[in-house]
Amino acid sequence: MQIDLSGKVALVTGGNSGLGEGIARGLAASGAKVAVNYVTHPETAEALVGSLKAKGGQAVAVLADVSDPAAVAAMFGQVDQQLGPVDILVNNAGIDGGRQLAWESDIGSWQRVISINLVGPYLCAREALQRMVGRKSGVIVNITSVHERIAWSGYSAYTASKAGVSMLTQTLAQEAAPYGVRVVAVAPGAIRTPINQNVWSDPAGLKDLLTKIPLGRIGEVEDIAQMVVFLASDQASYVTATTVYVDGGMTDYPDFSHGG
Ligand code: BGC
Repeated sequence: MQIDLSGKVALVTGGNSGLGEGIARGLAASGAKVAVNYVTHPETAEALVGSLKAKGGQAVAVLADVSDPAAVAAMFGQVDQQLGPVDILVNNAGIDGGRQLAWESDIGSWQRVISINLVGPYLCAREALQRMVGRKSGVIVNITSVHERIAWSGYSAYTASKAGVSMLTQTLAQEAAPYGVRVVAVAPGAIRTPINQNVWSDPAGLKDLLTKIPLGRIGEVEDIAQMVVFLASDQASYVTATTVYVDGGMTDYPDFSHGG
């Protein structure tokens, strides 16, 4: 299947590392012009932009803290000017906030996870939809997690944020469908990125992790990027208001392959 996104403008939040970088590369490889959002490490965003341009693509790095409404509005204005109105928004930026049992947790850290992971996608989707609805075209892909569905002790802010983005996805999809705009979510399982490096780089952590993955391997960034590129394309023109799990079967509860 040949996916052609040429002429499309894509914005990837948190595009300068991990899943975001892979998604930005995948979209560019299919011909999209890509805006790489970042909030820290401008040098990695610029390096990625340089590498996309070296391959003949069009790309820009755009700074914004996605939890800041004014910064998000300014970023969309910048993309309008430099590449054109956004056709594809990938809400990828996110943090896990670190492990804290709720009763011991710091309120500020809890709220920060919600601000970045849930308020951020809302703010970016709001700006994107303002541009997409009038043009009757556009796709928003929200990166959630298996933890939109699987509880995770110590990560109540993270799981709540991801479950929230799942319902945000479905509600925005309902609002936008009459205008030909699709809103979908991709839920990655355990993917080899910096966010969980402490687990997969530790032999005991990796062994435990693999017991949770029926396909018996940790996911790679390309596993997610390929799905996002497909969902952003017209080949997926009948897919909206749903979450696609890309998790090696993690949500199939492998512990139930025995006993029960
Ligand atoms: C988290 C990873 C974790 C994975 C599976 C993701 O949402 O960011 O740290 O390995 O879920 O539990």
